Amino acid sequence: MVTKLKKIWLDGEFVNWEDANVHILTHALHYGTSVFEGIRSYETKSGEAHIFKLKEHIERLFYSAKVLNMNLKYSVNDIVNATVELLKINNIKACYIRPIVFLGDGPMGLTTTDSPVRVSIIAWPWGTYLGDDAFEKGIKITVCPYRRQITELTKAKIGGSYYVSVLSKKYALDNGYDEALMLDTEGNVAEGSGENIFMIKDGKISTPKLGAILPGITRASVIEILKSQGINVDERMISLEELKNADELFFTGTAAELTPIVEIDGTKIGTGIVGEVTKKTSETFFKILKKEE
Ligand SMILES: Cc1ncc(COP(=O)(O)O)c(C=O)c1O
Repeated sequence: MVTKLKKIWLDGEFVNWEDANVHILTHALHYGTSVFEGIRSYETKSGEAHIFKLKEHIERLFYSAKVLNMNLKYSVNDIVNATVELLKINNIKACYIRPIVFLGDGPMGLTTTDSPVRVSIIAWPWGTYLGDDAFEKGIKITVCPYRRQITELTKAKIGGSYYVSVLSKKYALDNGYDEALMLDTEGNVAEGSGENIFMIKDGKISTPKLGAILPGITRASVIEILKSQGINVDERMISLEELKNADELFFTGTAAELTPIVEIDGTKIGTGIVGEVTKKTSETFFKILKKEE
């Protein structure tokens, strides 16, 4: 269950948590016409909130909205400021933040020209996404039967597209794994149900190129961190066979942060424990999140 806070930002106003409701004829509920973001805020040593890559997330939200032809009456800065304000009003620093743009109730059917575009920002406390010992011990994943399409649409976080991730996650949990790995429609490695994936083999780091994956903001940050350490990340096509033969693997994502993977469908990755490159990258990444570097 989500831990309730005091206020939610809805269409330009801070309303009480219990009052942030929508009508049953909300278009998004019927046709998946919503776009959203997932953002994390961290509490720094000095007690400040550090909303990681806030502007980048809101820019991606606007990009996704554009893909669905939704025109917001707010600017990127308006939503950035509202997010900062929301955390202050709720007196919270470490939390998960969910901005959402959706078509509200109005005309039904598939013509959306006159549908109202509504916007909300919700924040709540959210701990480790893939289990308390996931960072230390790593997780076990399975290849799921659902495929990621190679299309421009994967660049947008569209509510309606997420049924693939929901089914993948269920498949993994039902089969005793922590998370699912999706291949693309050509059988190459794509991403997790809500994470991008990185592979280390003989000291070289690779990640699937854009096309069938969400261009993760965490993915971009990790590539940047490694680059600043003089390590190049090769963005390319990766086969499942190669992935299983990797020395180390890890997932990245706002929810999952940086989570090591130690097994795919019973095959141990490297020695089956969290590897050194993963550990080192993770340490730097978490320092940056908490503004300790
Ligand atoms: C399908 C999918 N891939 C990757 C990611 C990771 O993206 P980010 O690092 O921007 O959170 C997410 C999470 O938003 C996702 O849902």
